[in-house]
Amino acid sequence: MHYWEPEIEARPRADLEKLQAQRLQATVAQAAKSPYYSRLLKERNLTPAHFRSPADIARLPFTTKDDLRASFPYGFMAVPVKETVRLHCSSGTTGNPTVIFHNRHDLQSWANLVARSMFAAGARPDDVFQNICGYGLFTGGLGFQYGAECLGCLTIPAGAGNSRRQIKLMQDFGTSVIHAIPSYLPRLREEFAELGLVPEKDTKLRIILTGAEPHSEETRQRLQELFKCKAFNSYGLSEMNGPGVAFECEQQSGLHLWEDCFLMEIINPQTLEPVPPGEIGELVLTTLDREAMPILRYRTRDLTRLLPGDCPCGRTHRRIDRITGRSDDMFIIKGCNVFPVQIEKVLMRVPQVGSDWLIILDTVNGTDEIIVQVEVQADGFKGDLQLLEALRRKITHEVRDEILVTPVVQLVEPGSLPRSEGKAKRVDERRKGRGA
Ligand code: COA
Ligand code: AMP
Ligand code: ZN
Repeated sequence: MHYWEPEIEARPRADLEKLQAQRLQATVAQAAKSPYYSRLLKERNLTPAHFRSPADIARLPFTTKDDLRASFPYGFMAVPVKETVRLHCSSGTTGNPTVIFHNRHDLQSWANLVARSMFAAGARPDDVFQNICGYGLFTGGLGFQYGAECLGCLTIPAGAGNSRRQIKLMQDFGTSVIHAIPSYLPRLREEFAELGLVPEKDTKLRIILTGAEPHSEETRQRLQELFKCKAFNSYGLSEMNGPGVAFECEQQSGLHLWEDCFLMEIINPQTLEPVPPGEIGELVLTTLDREAMPILRYRTRDLTRLLPGDCPCGRTHRRIDRITGRSDDMFIIKGCNVFPVQIEKVLMRVPQVGSDWLIILDTVNGTDEIIVQVEVQADGFKGDLQLLEALRRKITHEVRDEILVTPVVQLVEPGSLPRSEGKAKRVDERRKGRGA
């Protein structure tokens, strides 16, 4: 058996597009039950009957993260709250978070997509799966948990951190598949080395599923070399459930985007027009199988391109290239999304902070770090070291509360950060292997 769901995964394109058309119409009808889309459809005199083919999606405007936040908390909800069973929030927002609600159907559909994705990468029910990522509101935790259970794997909800314990779990239970973010994996490998162990001899590891942040093909090669097994790219975002939107199959040649559940467009982020097939643009997605909170034409801000041709695996769902970057200024550190303005907001609340600050993203001793250099006000830099240390700690603490990652805060003298002409450059990316 090659596929988790042969009828869906290898469905001829014409039939797949027919299914998309049916689901699009049903999704618009469902979305019309939410305050936000009901207003929008009325304003434009649109009814579900106007959506007969996937191309009809262009009748609608785009939906953005700001739209979701402006309608916080229930503006996009298309079912009564009592019918929903879970919510997730995406990291990296100030003020109101982006909240996504699910009913039972949505959770089952999502788990099935993750199971399908894991199967495509080669995982099977007799695998032992260890999920080394944040649980709680992060979608990678429960998303992979229920997906792997749906597939039938013994699933270890290990969570992020505590590398030594991760290795012990892997050894104790014979873990053969793991999910972890790419920048953490070298740290895990280092811990193996410190214990005098090597993954290929001392564990049963055979598959790594990795995603949640941009990484290059070279990074993948390096991870495969470090762990002596194959690593597969996993793409998703909380607004579209989380993991299980697009995934690499065993061919490792691009990510199949599950088109029975998501309608894809790739647009030029400046003109908002579709880019010619094969050109890089921003991925726009519409849910096709979500009831509690359908989202139409969501601007993901992720940059990618459609890959040409058919995949030798026989799946008919089209493939996108690995994500090469963003069309906004969000960056991802240790698997957490951050907008520079979140850090700015924290810094500007502290009276001793001067007007300039700089975020440096770097790899220090094999681990990603976020270094925040902050100029102190001239009269705050007079010399009491204890006061400065207290200030440094306070900033560290407050930034961590905001972005969920502990920064290295460095206080610097007023006027010492480089001044830029025009728009200040706030983020200095020094990590290697990000983007394509
Ligand atoms: N995944 C798993 N473990 C991670 C990690 C990551 N992305 N980033 C760091 N860690 C580990 C560290 O190695 C350390 O454990 P160790 O010393 O035993 O090796 C421990 O977590 C604490 O790391 P540190 O860098 O000191 O903490 P922090 O305060 O900066 O970050 C985390 C805290 C790791 C808990 C936070 O960044 C997090 O939750 N990241 C995971 C996000 C995630 O899973 N996203 C995917 C969503 S799909
Ligand atoms: P979240 O909403 O917190 O789940 O974060 C989703 C974002 O993480 C996406 O919009 C992407 O920017 C990023 N992301 C997820 N998976 C990948 C991947 N495989 N490669 C690159 N970026 C990814
Ligand atoms: Zn394939």
